[in-house]
Amino acid sequence: MNPLNHVAIIMDGNGRWGIKYKNSRNSGHKEGLKTVEKIIKETIKNEIKYLTLYAFSTENWKRPKNEINYLFKLLENFLINKIDDLHKQNIRLKVIGFKNFSKKLNNLLKYSEKKTFHNKKLQVNLALNYGSKSELIHAFKNLFKNKKTLNEKNLNKYLQTKNIPDPDLLIRTGDTKRLSNFLLWQIAYTEIFFEKKLWPSFNENDYNKIIKKFRQIKRNFGNI
Ligand code: IPE
Ligand code: IPE
Ligand code: MG
Repeated sequence: MNPLNHVAIIMDGNGRWGIKYKNSRNSGHKEGLKTVEKIIKETIKNEIKYLTLYAFSTENWKRPKNEINYLFKLLENFLINKIDDLHKQNIRLKVIGFKNFSKKLNNLLKYSEKKTFHNKKLQVNLALNYGSKSELIHAFKNLFKNKKTLNEKNLNKYLQTKNIPDPDLLIRTGDTKRLSNFLLWQIAYTEIFFEKKLWPSFNENDYNKIIKKFRQIKRNFGNI
């Protein structure tokens, strides 16, 4: 049985779900947030220590203003309403990506990270305005600026995922088989599952089925 320490998820399919069931993409985002809560709970039940959720990519700025604003409003409200609860559950929240949002959201994110910093049960990494390519370029630049030798260990220290072990399992919902600029360096040996269901329809049962399959895989890491 493979140990499972870190699950990363590309939460895709909100917009299509919203159009299909409620005639608006934004209602899909709202519904998707319920899945986030379910999956956090189930991650704790499975005693997994890290959960990384791709919530907004560096390319998602191309979307219409109204959708972007809605997404950030949703996140703001989520933090305002739920951060105490997450804290009580001993969950640490960390943002990966560049925090260049409204002053209000930046402050809320910083506050949430600080408040939950010492929590130990589960670390939830929220990938927000995250893009793997810009993360890598930024890391290389800083590494050279500080005159460090370029090697794996040093590069890891300059990534936004510093101190976070690489994901063991990556799940992408929404019936699309691509990585969309997510953790390209970190998933070198990650097991990848593409799930047909749209994110708002994804549930604990689907999650546990994937985890069960993951546990049975023979992971070689180049060995035999
Ligand atoms: C993923 O769902 C969530 C974000 C990118 C914020 P989408 O909004 O991409 O949903 P689809 O893929 O258009 O259905
Ligand atoms: C990836 O989904 C980003 C997130 C889930 C936040 P997208 O829907 O943005 O990916 P593409 O554009 O279809 O590749
Ligand atoms: Mg999508």
